[in-house]
Amino acid sequence: MKVENVMVTGANRGIGLEFVRQLTQLSEPPRYIFATYRNASSLKELKEIAESSIKTQIILIKMDVTLPEEVEVAKSIVESTVKEQGLNLLINNAGAVKLQSFPDITPENLEFHYKVNTEGPIFVLQAMLPSLEKAASLHDGGMSVSKAMVLNMTSLAGSIGNAGVVFTQDLIVPGYKISKAALNMAMRVIAANVKDKGILIVNMCPGWVKTDMGGRELAQLEPHESIANMLKTLPTLNESHQGTYLDRLGNPIPF
Ligand SMILES: NC(=O)c1ccc[n+]([C@@H]2O[C@H](COP(=O)([O-])OP(=O)(O)OC[C@H]3O[C@@H](n4cnc5c(N)ncnc54)[C@H](OP(=O)(O)O)[C@@H]3O)[C@@H](O)[C@H]2O)c1
Repeated sequence: MKVENVMVTGANRGIGLEFVRQLTQLSEPPRYIFATYRNASSLKELKEIAESSIKTQIILIKMDVTLPEEVEVAKSIVESTVKEQGLNLLINNAGAVKLQSFPDITPENLEFHYKVNTEGPIFVLQAMLPSLEKAASLHDGGMSVSKAMVLNMTSLAGSIGNAGVVFTQDLIVPGYKISKAALNMAMRVIAANVKDKGILIVNMCPGWVKTDMGGRELAQLEPHESIANMLKTLPTLNESHQGTYLDRLGNPIPF
C-alpha cells in the first residue's frame, strides 16, 4: 500500500497510535503523518515513534475534535505542509465512551457521545475536504486509499441491525451506540455527496481491541493485529465500497 500524506486523529494511544506505528513501517511509508493529540503529557510513545521514523515526517498537532478553533489550526498546518499534493488519507479515529445505561442516561451523556463520535469526524472531514479534493484531483483512475480516502473508526456497536443481538454491552453504552449509528449515517450521506470528487469514504469497525476503551481483559484483539488487518484491507477498497460499513477484513456489517 502506498499513501503519501495521512492524518490520524486521536493518535497518542490505542488504535490511533498503532496506526501511526504501522504506517511508518510500510515498505513505502507516507511522506507526512499528521498525528493529533489533546494533552502534551500523553505523547511519550508517539514521540518515540516520531523520533525513530526515518522516511516519514510525523507532525504532531494538538486537536480536540470538538473544538472548532483547534480543527481550524490543524487545517492550516495540513494545508501549508502538503500544499498542492493534498491529503490522501484521513483516519477519523478519535472517539470516546462513557458508560451510562438507560434509564439513568442523561442529556449530557448523549450529547457528549454525539459531539465526540459524530460531530467530531464530520467537522474534521469538512476541514480536510479541500486537501482531500486536491489529492484526488492529482490521481487518475478509480477511488482508492492511495488517491483520497476517509476511514472512519466506527463500531459494530453502532449497527442497528445487530442491536440487542450481538453486543453484550448493549445495555450499558446506549449513548456510544447511538453516536456510532449516527456517524455511519452521516458518512453514508457525505459519501454520496463527495463521490464525484473521487474521495472514498468507508466506515470500519476495528474489532474488539485491547485498548483503554476496549478493555484489556475481554477484548479479543491486540492493537497490532487489528491494525494489520485494516491496513491489509484498505488497498482492496474501491468505488464499490463507497459509503459502506465494514469489519476490519472488509466484510459488510448490516447498518
Ligand atoms: N477498542 C475497541 O475495541 C474499539 C471497537 C470499536 C470501535 N473503536 C473505535 O476506535 C477508535 C479508537 O478507539 P481506542 O480503542 O483506541 O480508544 P482509546 O484507547 O480510548 O483512545 C481514544 C483516542 O481518542 C482520543 N479522543 C477522545 N476524545 C477526543 C476528542 N474530543 N478530541 C480528540 N481526540 C479525542 C483520545 O485522546 P486522549 O488520550 O486525549 O483522551 C485517544 O487518543 C474510537 O473511535 C473507537 O470508538 C474501538
